[in-house]
Amino acid sequence: MPEAPFPTPEADANPALHALLARASVPPRLLHDPAPDAPALAVAVAAALRAPDHGGLRPWRFLGIQGEARARLGDLLAQSMLARAPETPEARLALERAKPLRAPLLVAAGAALRPHPKIPDWEQEATAAAGIMNFLNALDAQGFGCCWLSSPALQDPAIKAALGFAETDRLLGWIYVGTPAADRPRPVRPAVDGFWRDWAG
Ligand SMILES: Cc1cc2nc3c(=O)[nH]c(=O)nc-3n(C[C@H](O)[C@H](O)[C@H](O)COP(=O)(O)O)c2cc1C
Repeated sequence: MPEAPFPTPEADANPALHALLARASVPPRLLHDPAPDAPALAVAVAAALRAPDHGGLRPWRFLGIQGEARARLGDLLAQSMLARAPETPEARLALERAKPLRAPLLVAAGAALRPHPKIPDWEQEATAAAGIMNFLNALDAQGFGCCWLSSPALQDPAIKAALGFAETDRLLGWIYVGTPAADRPRPVRPAVDGFWRDWAG
């Protein structure tokens, strides 16, 4: 259980709020086997699908990468890095290649964007990102750990195509997932003061 005090004892006693307030990222090096099984992942995806969605466009896209496929993604990431920076030394490429192996499950999370007269891309991305946040919360609440990371490869059309995303999809992050080590960080959060103000007109 986290050590940081929650805003109120009432919030602490409410299981849903307790889970929300306790959530914290877990660095990939502290994520171990087992990965969530299919039912636990289904709960997390179901939670993602509860994000507000203007027009019901359903932009959420999650792609799971486990086992040997992580090494194949590592090769693609190294190729992508080399294409961006041909002078990259082999040692740096090796680090890039090894990245997906840090956790038992890697999820490529994206947004399927479609042209819409009233719903711009940013709203569709916001819906997808809100879904990713629900996904993280649902996995954390089930005892798993996650970390949402970005990298230049997310913008690489070759990576997107290799992972089977459409050209019009946008990759929003790599989500590393696993069972957290006991010494996972429990960051102290800022006080809510300063993040809210009232406007009286
Ligand atoms: C879209 C997005 C991309 C991120 N990319 C990175 C990243 O590449 N590297 C990193 O250290 N943290 C990244 N973060 C932040 C971590 O996911 C995490 O929030 C941070 O380590 C703080 O931990 P906390 O979530 O427990 O507050 C990213 C967060 C978001 C929302």
